[in-house]
Amino acid sequence: RIVYLNGEWLAESEAKVSIFDRGFLFADAIYEVTAVIGGKLIDYPGHAARLKRSLAELRMTCPLDADSLLDVHRQIVARNNLDEGLIYMQISRGPADRDFAFPANPTPTITLFTQEKGILSSPKLETGISVITMPDLRWVRRDIKTVQLLYPSIAKTEAMHRNADDAWLVEDGFVTEASSANAHIVTTEGKLVTRSLSTAILHGITRASILDLARGAGVPAEERAFTPQEAKNAAEAFITSATSFVMPVTRIDGEPIGAGIPGPITQRLRAAYVEDRR
Ligand code: PDD
Repeated sequence: RIVYLNGEWLAESEAKVSIFDRGFLFADAIYEVTAVIGGKLIDYPGHAARLKRSLAELRMTCPLDADSLLDVHRQIVARNNLDEGLIYMQISRGPADRDFAFPANPTPTITLFTQEKGILSSPKLETGISVITMPDLRWVRRDIKTVQLLYPSIAKTEAMHRNADDAWLVEDGFVTEASSANAHIVTTEGKLVTRSLSTAILHGITRASILDLARGAGVPAEERAFTPQEAKNAAEAFITSATSFVMPVTRIDGEPIGAGIPGPITQRLRAAYVEDRR
């Protein structure tokens, strides 16, 4: 792969970052993941806007202006002949002597790489995925897309050890989100329920797009928190993210949701998203 690092295009084996980088030592870094379908960026404006917000929340600056950032995204797709997959972009505060306080004049480290991934077709789309519930032990600013991903990694690994595909995280009795995706249910009345935006969840770009499409498709939507019990009693459930788009969830803590197969509204929303964006 050809990767991007601080203004240079390099073979992946040539791309090196300092061991003093604050991304490495303090997880002092933010990231974005953008899907690519047919060589095209999906929902890029949303990802660019969230990146800006994450940077501002952490008083970090972007080493590239908006046009250059888009250009680098387009170039990395072309240089790697990426048809379907994702672009990972990370900006850290950069290298500095190890000190908890932010350095005065840091030079950020920006890197991008691509990863091939089948998004349009996945065997899991046929069956849906199974999730387990786990306490949400992440820090409380989940609206900032930082690289502090240890707990989500623990949760996902635990889910796999328990023969499930992912974890739905629970705080104060309510589902926040999945380990790396937003969580949604469809009630038996056909209403889409998804947690409202706050610092408790990442403001998913796919989530926002699906809410828009639901309104257009006449699917009523309610933005509020729901409990694991309500999810168990729901007709359908799904997750959304740049790397899965809309993925049906058919089991929670071993119990089937609805008929235990991908639901019709879930499938309609997925089809509408794929049609609209590709
Ligand atoms: N994760 N919630 C969390 C905690 C996430 O990490 C993600 C995305 C989402 C969905 O956001 P979006 O629709 O903008 O991708 C929700 C990315 C894909 C990742 O970490 O790989």
